[in-house]
Amino acid sequence: MNSAFPHLIDLNDYPVAWWKKVVELGERIKNDPAAFAHECDGKIMATLFYEPSTRTQMSFQTAMIRLGGQIIGFDNPANSSVAKGETIKDTTKIVSSYSDILVIRHPVAGAAKAAALTADCPVINAGDGGHLHPTQTLTDLLTLKIEKKKLSGLTIGMCGDLINGRTVHSLCKALSMLEDNKFVFISTPELRMPAYIKDIIKANGSSFEEVDTLEEAIGRLDVLYMTRIQQERFASEADYLAQKNTYVLDRAKMLGAKKDMIVMHPLPRVDEITVDVDDDERAMYFTQAKYGVFVRMALIMTMLSEKKQTELLKGKVYGGVRCGNPRCITNHEEYLPKSFRSSGDQTLLECEFCDERKLI
Ligand code: NCD
Repeated sequence: MNSAFPHLIDLNDYPVAWWKKVVELGERIKNDPAAFAHECDGKIMATLFYEPSTRTQMSFQTAMIRLGGQIIGFDNPANSSVAKGETIKDTTKIVSSYSDILVIRHPVAGAAKAAALTADCPVINAGDGGHLHPTQTLTDLLTLKIEKKKLSGLTIGMCGDLINGRTVHSLCKALSMLEDNKFVFISTPELRMPAYIKDIIKANGSSFEEVDTLEEAIGRLDVLYMTRIQQERFASEADYLAQKNTYVLDRAKMLGAKKDMIVMHPLPRVDEITVDVDDDERAMYFTQAKYGVFVRMALIMTMLSEKKQTELLKGKVYGGVRCGNPRCITNHEEYLPKSFRSSGDQTLLECEFCDERKLI
């Protein structure tokens, strides 16, 4: 199913050369933001945030304002018609007729794709549940390009909530497409990287290992990407408390790291990095958040000039087969087609909205 508009739902919908160009443009903007101050004069961006956000929402808004455009939207769906039971379909249909580009964050996986199916303007996924977060990945790539001077040949440690962390899912999918990157996943057995992401890494020819402690990995890393335990995505408070505080990066652990390792974090931080690490020159998380504005400026400009239509659904509906993931948008918005891709193995279907697998 094609949409008449270009959308950014998953970075991997575009070739590597496309995202490299966005990142390069982001770097040019960083070096001379004033030169881009009128790129979006007269344009309107809508931000529909169904889930809390500080950086992503404000950096998108700042980006549009710095490009000369204007913004509309909500950051609390309780103050919109969503509270009256309006579907994503209807909200998107209307808001996309008011705006030139729409940015959506939602607590349910696949929601951005659902919005794109009905939108009359480009849609950008600003985070869909525990699934993907492509614009954080663009921010991370710009950070690596500027601070490590390369996007390949890196050993990247990812630590914390790897099962629920959408930032690390998108980042793995992207970095595994670039040459010679190696991943070290540091988590408890309960919070390991999802199998579908590990399969993508392998299929892209990259390698990964899984370890239990920060101490056994930190000395080999070029980049340490810390993540928050995603409290809101746990089934119960007890499950969350069992994972809380397992990984804490502090000055003592930083002593075991390379002199040029950088520490990244999409933020917000809860307790996984002690504040005394902030003064270490390898701590890059605040700089990373700042770079997010430049790369989002680049992305807005790119999407508004992009001609490519997006093929949103490539698979098909299999009779009464539904996605088994209760946190998939197809189980929240009934009108959506229950569309699946079939992977190599014909009995294994992958939901086109949340990527969850199902045996038939
Ligand atoms: C992340 C997110 O929302 O996924 N934050 C962000 O966008 N910068 C990370 C998180 O919430 O832990």
